[in-house]
Amino acid sequence: MTETTLRRHLTQSTPDPNLIFLLEDIASACRAIANLVRNGAFEGNLGSADVMNIQGETQKTLDILANDEFERICSNSPRLAALVSEEVEAVTWLKEPKAGDYLLYFDPLDGSSNLDVNLSVGSIFAIMQVQTDGDRNVLHEGRRQVCAGYALYGPSTMFVLTDGAEVTGFTCHNGTGDFRLTHPNMKVPSETSEFAINTSRYRYWDTPIRRYVDECVAGKEGVRQRPFNMRWTASMVAEIHRILTRGGVFLYPADSKNRSAGGKLRLMYEANPMAMIIQQAGGVASTGYGPIMDIEPKGPHQRVPVILGSRAEVERLIEYHKT
Ligand code: AHG
Ligand code: MN
Ligand code: MN
Repeated sequence: MTETTLRRHLTQSTPDPNLIFLLEDIASACRAIANLVRNGAFEGNLGSADVMNIQGETQKTLDILANDEFERICSNSPRLAALVSEEVEAVTWLKEPKAGDYLLYFDPLDGSSNLDVNLSVGSIFAIMQVQTDGDRNVLHEGRRQVCAGYALYGPSTMFVLTDGAEVTGFTCHNGTGDFRLTHPNMKVPSETSEFAINTSRYRYWDTPIRRYVDECVAGKEGVRQRPFNMRWTASMVAEIHRILTRGGVFLYPADSKNRSAGGKLRLMYEANPMAMIIQQAGGVASTGYGPIMDIEPKGPHQRVPVILGSRAEVERLIEYHKT
């Protein structure tokens, strides 16, 4: 039987060859980043900024090296007009924007505090399109995403993609480096008994979040009348991948400590792409007060509250935010 590679899948599902080129470039960047992550200890670049290597040179962190890979590889895409990266303050323009050109938003390395302890990290991306010639606005709401996806650098490297229809997962074959279709039509189970939140922030939370988590923790004896499990990996990619596989709800709310910043996670390259993936898989993505993908962005690095995952749990959380 012929393996369905990422290229075969894209040629069957994506009408615009320029979008195929761009998605293949993103996948190549992710493959290169997987190698950087795996070899990081040899190069001395697992740590934070300003680490000296044995030659006394300052090492770049893997966040910066991962950003460089996205820039280096994706800049070849003929219809890519601009890059918006977590690691770069300003928008990087690659060409004079023309209607139909693509805009790429990305978090080159997500969960980077996990690098030092050899746990899962990832990359996240979203793609939108320029609507009129010369339009240099990149601040569009998430509903305009044409594709979104992530790479997970875990025990295996995976590439998970949605084009607005299905969510499809590919696993990197160790040897050939091919991304092969392994997880067709991924769906978030609508019911779950597993939640993910950084509970060390409990004292900063608003009432609806405290109420939800208190009720989960109360288990069988509480109003939920069943036991709940908790996971927190500190890598949104790993968290979302788990939810796509076995269900769950992920929360990074605005709280009294981060509210002035808007929350913790960034709208354009963390919340929006994950919202599109979760919703295409049958889940729900909300701030608690409205859909994430309806937010009108005010800046490329804007932060927002994030609640997403299994439909029944997110809908319950939305109800709790109304009282
Ligand atoms: P990044 O490494 O790109 O800055 O993102 C880290 C994010 C996200 O992946 C994760 O869910 C969250 O930060 C972890 O936050 P805590 O440190 O509060 O656990
Ligand atoms: Mn991140
Ligand atoms: Mn990052």
